[in-house]
Amino acid sequence: MQTSSWLISGGRDRTVGAPLNVPIVPSSNFLLESSDPDGRSYARAHGTSSTEALEALLGPLDGGEALVFSSGMAAATAVLHRVPFGGTIAIPLDPYHGVKHIAIEGETLNRWKVIRLDLADTAGWVSALENADLLWLESPANPLMTVADLPTICGAPRSPDTLVAVDSTFATPLLQQPLALGADVVMHSATKFIGGHSDLLSGSLVARDPDLLEEFRARRTITGGSIGALESFLTLRGARTMSLRVNHAQTSAQILAERLLEHPEIVSVRYPGLESHPTHAVAKTFMTGFGAMMSFDPVGPGERAGALCDNLKMIFHATSLGGVESTMERRAVIPGQEEIPPSLIRFSVGCENVEDIWDDISQAIDATKGM
Ligand SMILES: Cc1ncc(COP(=O)(O)O)c(C=O)c1O
Repeated sequence: MQTSSWLISGGRDRTVGAPLNVPIVPSSNFLLESSDPDGRSYARAHGTSSTEALEALLGPLDGGEALVFSSGMAAATAVLHRVPFGGTIAIPLDPYHGVKHIAIEGETLNRWKVIRLDLADTAGWVSALENADLLWLESPANPLMTVADLPTICGAPRSPDTLVAVDSTFATPLLQQPLALGADVVMHSATKFIGGHSDLLSGSLVARDPDLLEEFRARRTITGGSIGALESFLTLRGARTMSLRVNHAQTSAQILAERLLEHPEIVSVRYPGLESHPTHAVAKTFMTGFGAMMSFDPVGPGERAGALCDNLKMIFHATSLGGVESTMERRAVIPGQEEIPPSLIRFSVGCENVEDIWDDISQAIDATKGM
């Protein structure tokens, strides 16, 4: 079955009389039976049927079994905190800032050592496999859209004690398959493209090794990273249309990136689908599409980029991404993001008509010209 069909038909109860949609079960507490000590007793430990249905839908998309968390950061933390005391974590120079925060904080507390690598430095990542306990890759990455050479890095020989994790949020399970390339675990902020409507927080880990999955499950239970029933339901409902949304948005993203590249008021455009992108060639070797995320810099000072976002009339000036609505944000103003080019605008392309999106960008560029 094609992924697009699985997304729509998977994870549903086919018993006669059953509801097509798994009901929301708003209960933290469940009745016990002394002869079944492993039965569902408490939602933090066992989730609810809505969570189970979501996990059943998401796992096969990445070729493994899924565990859903209360947010992408809760999922990422479960992986990072698995690294033993005195261990080593390799992270990109600019991973998602929450991940960077946890990694650096752990180093400051002498919990572990952190190696920071350019995502495009494939040889550096492969050699990090020799002494790191965890390679944390994010690809395509926030916000320069660098694509790591996942086939080479994830496929390189390593000790079974070295875990390779990939934050695949920007690609979604539709555009790349890190587990098939040799990664141990793939993480998504399901808040973004999987949920797709900016109305929930949710995250997932997908792995093939049942023991690894059980470790993450135990961590989720003990740290309380479990997702609520309503968020599980909403994530599942959003995921049903992910293929339609991502395909539509990435078609528009390619058109918009090409137009921005030609625009005299734009200095640079970073989109993996552009031949000019430094990691376009590597992306083409394993990604089945280039996604709906890009960044671009208008001519002029950083304040112009902020003003451009303020002048948008249809696109939203907002931080999150991956929703049906297009969003833009100047990233350098976010605390901890000062290394980012001052005029960089991160652009999440939504599902509106592409010409309406272009008209809105064009008028905001014109309105801020000469700043
Ligand atoms: C690439 C990436 N990873 C992880 C996260 C964290 O996800 P969440 O906000 O669901 O905790 C985000 C959120 O923006 C993200 O963009």
